[in-house]
Formats: sequence, structure tokens, C-alpha cells
Amino acid sequence: MAKTVLITGATAGLGRATAIELHRRGWTVLAHGRSEAKLAGLPGVTPLLADLASLAEVRSLAERVTHVDVLVNNAAVGFGPPGGAREVSVDGHELRMAVNYLAPVLLTRLLLRTAAPARVVNVGSLGQVPFDPADIEFTRGYDGVLAYRRSKLALVAHTFDLAEELRGRGVTVNCVHPAGFMDTAMVRESGITPMSTVDEGLAAVLASITGPADDTGQFYAGTRRATALAPAYDPGFRRDLREVTERMLTTRAGRGTE
Ligand SMILES: NC(=O)c1ccc[n+]([C@@H]2O[C@H](COP(=O)([O-])OP(=O)(O)OC[C@H]3O[C@@H](n4cnc5c(N)ncnc54)[C@H](OP(=O)(O)O)[C@@H]3O)[C@@H](O)[C@H]2O)c1
Repeated sequence: MAKTVLITGATAGLGRATAIELHRRGWTVLAHGRSEAKLAGLPGVTPLLADLASLAEVRSLAERVTHVDVLVNNAAVGFGPPGGAREVSVDGHELRMAVNYLAPVLLTRLLLRTAAPARVVNVGSLGQVPFDPADIEFTRGYDGVLAYRRSKLALVAHTFDLAEELRGRGVTVNCVHPAGFMDTAMVRESGITPMSTVDEGLAAVLASITGPADDTGQFYAGTRRATALAPAYDPGFRRDLREVTERMLTTRAGRGTE
């Protein structure tokens, strides 16, 4: 049966490959990107423009989607160039946490209310580092690699929370590390020599998209079940992260409640 998928960050690398492959297989592909020109280079898809560094644009994106069977939260900002300075989102939040974690949390939440996805695939990473949720804005000792890895720990911890919340309601939520250092823009920007192909990552994401309908709350490395970093299983860390997340979704950094 033909299905509808929304893929964020479908304009490059893994997201683009996933969009092209699912379109080839007959899926209806809603392809999200932040560049109109890049979206125009993806034939046969429905383009959806939004900057995920803006929570208002995440909301507007969700409003334009009426139904999806599968949501693939793939878009992300990588390590950045070596020694790169801390960056902030339109809302004033640390950029990697905003795009790689806050945006998919909000997009998923909104689409669960309106678009009824049966499956959520969060594209995470084995590269995770512990952090204190009270320091989620990473204002001291910033490092781009750590910022990226913090966001990926947050994403997998959120995946586990949401899977528990939705258990028995016909919605599965998993997190997948596609492959290590694929040959994509974010890896090249960081100066790291690619170690795997986009096709390897694509196989992992496709397995999560098409896997068993009762498989939920899992972290995969490639196509194998894997263990996330310990805090992702820690109820205290997850509670603190949830609390700080709710505050970030309702306030502008440093500006109080909107
Ligand atoms: N590459 C790896 O080795 C690796 C390893 C583990 C996990 N991953 C994960 O795999 C996923 C895909 O990464 P990739 O390697 O394919 O990266 P990529 O080629 O750099 O693509 C990233 C995508 O995210 C989009 N994006 C970035 N910031 C955005 C923003 N503010 N608003 C909207 N879209 C934005 C990019 O848009 P533009 O095209 O406009 O830049 C692009 O479509 C990510 O979640 C990444 O963390 C990658």
C-alpha cells in the first residue's frame, strides 16, 4: 500500500537519498528543506520549506501537513568547522540543540495531534555525551562536537520517553544511528575524512521505516539494536530534560515568556 512520509532535511545527504528511494518505491514524499532552490532539485516530491532553527517555522511546517504515515526527523546541524564558535537559533537557543532536538520534539508533538503518524524515526547518532539539562544552552566551555553529541543524547532520551508515552496507541518511535561518518556535507564541513557511504546509512533508515509495526522505544546502530548512553535510561535525567524542554518550547532564551 502506498504510504506518505515526511522527511526533514531532505535536501542533502541521507535525507535526500531517503526521499529519492521512497519516491522510487511509490511512496508519497513530503520533502522538507530550508532552501527552495535545493527542494526544486528533488523531482516528484511535495516540497515543504521551513527553517528548523525557528520554532515558529516548525509550527508553520506542522500546519501544512494534514497526514503522514511515517515521520523521519533527519535534519541536523553537524559539528561545524573545527574550533567553530557557539551559535544560536532564531529563538536564542544553542543552535545544535535547537535544530537537532527541540525542532523534532515540537514537530512530532504537533503532527501526533493532527497528522496521525504511525511511525516516528529519529535519526540519532552513536556520538552522544552526557550533560546537565540545567546547562542545555551550553553557555560556557562550548565545543561544536560536544554540542552536537549533547543534542543526540537528548534526542534518544526523548525517543524513549515518547515511545513509553505512546505504547499501546499504535504509534512506534525509534532512534537510529545511520552509519559512522558518511560522506555528507556535515562530515566534510567538520574536516573529518568520511568512513562510510550514504547508502549504508540509507539501509539503516529504511530498515527503521519498514521494520515490524510493534517495534518501539529502540535505539539502532545501523540495522542492529544498540545501547544508547546511560543517561538516556536514567529517569532523573529524562525528567530534568523534559522540564527544561517544556520551558524552552514556551519561552525565548533570556526574554521570558512570550
Ligand atoms: N553523516 C554522518 O556520518 C552521520 C552520522 C550519524 C548520524 N548522522 C545523522 O544523519 C542525519 C542526516 O545527516 P547528513 O549526514 O545527511 O547531513 P547533511 O548532508 O549535512 O544534511 C543535513 C540536512 O539537514 C538540513 N538542515 C540543517 N539545518 C537546518 C535548519 N536550520 N533548518 C532546516 N533544515 C536544516 C540541511 O539543509 P541544507 O541542505 O539546506 O543544508 C540538510 O538537508 C542527521 O540527523 C545526522 O545527525 C549523520
